[in-house]
Amino acid sequence: MITVTLLSFLPYKLNLICNFIKGKQREPIEEGGFEMKKRWSFMAMIRPLFVVLLVTAMACLVLLSSNPQSAPPARASSQTETDGYYKHDGVSNQSTTSRSEDMLLGSLLSPDLDEHSCMSRYQSGLYRKTSPHNPSTYLVSKLRNYEALHKRCGPNTLLYNKSVEQLRTNHSTDQLECNYVIWTPLGGLGNRMLTLASTFLYALLTGRVLLVDHATDFVDLFCEPFPGSSWVLPSNFPIESLNSFDVDSKMSYGYLMKHNLISEDPKTWSEMLPSFVYVHLESTYIWDMYHQLFFCDDSHFVLSKINWLLLKSDNYFLPGLFMLSTFENELSRMFPSRETVFHHLSRYLFQPGNSVWELAMKYYHSYVAMANQTVGIQIRDFPWSLMSKEDRFNQIMDCTLKENILPHVTQHSRKTTYLNTDEMGSKAILVISLYKDYYDRMKSYYARSTHVGQHVNVYQPSHEEAQQLKNQSHNEKALAEIVLLSFSDVLVTSAWSTFGYVSYNFAGVKPWILLSSKVSKEVHPPCRRVTTMDPCFHTPPSINCKTKRRSKTKLTGAHIKQCEDVEEGIKLVD
Ligand SMILES: *[C@@H]1O[C@H](CO)[C@@H](O)[C@H](O)[C@H]1NC(C)=O
Ligand SMILES: *[C@@H]1O[C@H](CO)[C@@H](O)[C@H](O)[C@H]1NC(C)=O
Ligand SMILES: *[C@@H]1O[C@H](CO)[C@@H](O)[C@H](O)[C@H]1NC(C)=O
Ligand SMILES: *[C@@H]1O[C@H](CO)[C@@H](O)[C@H](O)[C@H]1NC(C)=O
Ligand SMILES: *[C@@H]1O[C@H](CO)[C@@H](O)[C@H](O)[C@H]1NC(C)=O
Repeated sequence: MITVTLLSFLPYKLNLICNFIKGKQREPIEEGGFEMKKRWSFMAMIRPLFVVLLVTAMACLVLLSSNPQSAPPARASSQTETDGYYKHDGVSNQSTTSRSEDMLLGSLLSPDLDEHSCMSRYQSGLYRKTSPHNPSTYLVSKLRNYEALHKRCGPNTLLYNKSVEQLRTNHSTDQLECNYVIWTPLGGLGNRMLTLASTFLYALLTGRVLLVDHATDFVDLFCEPFPGSSWVLPSNFPIESLNSFDVDSKMSYGYLMKHNLISEDPKTWSEMLPSFVYVHLESTYIWDMYHQLFFCDDSHFVLSKINWLLLKSDNYFLPGLFMLSTFENELSRMFPSRETVFHHLSRYLFQPGNSVWELAMKYYHSYVAMANQTVGIQIRDFPWSLMSKEDRFNQIMDCTLKENILPHVTQHSRKTTYLNTDEMGSKAILVISLYKDYYDRMKSYYARSTHVGQHVNVYQPSHEEAQQLKNQSHNEKALAEIVLLSFSDVLVTSAWSTFGYVSYNFAGVKPWILLSSKVSKEVHPPCRRVTTMDPCFHTPPSINCKTKRRSKTKLTGAHIKQCEDVEEGIKLVD
């Protein structure tokens, strides 16, 4: 056990050593790209070191573990915001136990997973800031119970086969031990991660098993999250073309309710209900009151009797679950702090697969790691925006200079103001955008020296020029960029952007959001700091569950507020 922990930790240590050596001989690299040729070979460098270190470390470990008196020292990561990344010297002082707890994100992750198949699981805790938010013990126990359920009911188990068999009878039964919710992908990577986490929470609340209908561009992006099983729906699943279910589907819950084909009557037996129902939560659900019934309590008595649910959404519908009294008690035990629901769920579910992790690590260590502070700026351009790229860049500079996120430059030549560069520390600006334009502008802005003589480097890992929805390599780069952003100390993200929501929740950082306007070229203020981290539910329901009619009043609730970036959206607050 201890050896395993150590082994997983070693590559990181070696990174540090390599960086240390590398740092002495390296000039700041200006251009950056995932595809850039490496100037040195990381693997060639560490191979001989690895053997030596392994032996040394084993020896250290025997010494350490035989000394029960050595009290676990305080956490290494008690840094201030400007203090930069995970500090190297602090690490060596932690006991293996507390270190392995860090790696499991305060017990959020199961200790039973194989770490070699998923490097990020054990390493990301070392690069991201330690979360100041601990998962509740109740959430942790729910997750462990869920993992056991998933293992019992996972694909190709006896119980799974039995449930699949039930599909052929066209009706549900209460005889089954395993009931399922199948998630189907829709929209870009950010949307998918938000809906998958929402669906997973629904599974946790309803005792269902989550299976994922893998689109071809989604394979291997993430590690399998549940030990000893898979979350991928087997390809021989009897219902075909799951992604073709839509707003008009006759098997949708809305359609069945509208046409009185099923009843909310609590006396309804399982046998009177179909074996399979489709829940339509794509943004278009808002136009049909019957689809919106999903956000009314009565529906969940009926739905709980149906063996299989298929769910499709492009919306972070999770806050809607908090509006149901059915789940209120469970949710408040699982999440005493509502502002960190997605923060915990995303860190639990989404461990980037090895190829994405390697892509991110390579870039990070080649360019970003040496800076004292990293500022991540994520810029999403929406087609409806009236702003030109120049307007947008001006908005970014307005925001970051005003909020003291980035330093001013001097009008004089480079020679003038050199105060104490070391004391100021250096800054890396990570520009994440589909376009090269913003990077070019930022770089030419910081070609001048800064007022205070601080060193600023600008990086952009990729610029794909257009979003592609069905391209694995494109998605891998996008996820690697989310990972890189999540290592930032300070984040500036874009209004409306699900990619941004995911990045700052991974990071556990409250960002400044660059506001957008659909009616104006100018935005005042240029940005706003979010008050809570949880993402925005862009299209919340507008239904009065008592009258089953459209409700004109805005959703209110003690724990719900309007989003900073989307007027009609809602988010969770404490
Ligand atoms: C490491 O721990 C030892 C004893 O626990 C302490 O004396 C030393 O100052 C610590 N070093 C750092 C860098 O915190
Ligand atoms: C479940 O069914 C699949 C084929 O559909 C089969 O390969 C597998 O062995 C079955 N599992 C059990 C435990 O019988
Ligand atoms: C289930 O429904 C399908 C399509 O509606 C039908 O073809 C099939 O015969 C039904 N099976 C049973 C067992 O009723
Ligand atoms: C910035 O990092 C360098 C090298 O890691 C270090 O020598 C310096 O003290 C750091 N400066 C600040 C302000 O943290
Ligand atoms: C997928 O995206 C990559 C860049 O990320 C691009 O090089 C490749 O041509 C794309 N493939 C297709 C089929 O569009």
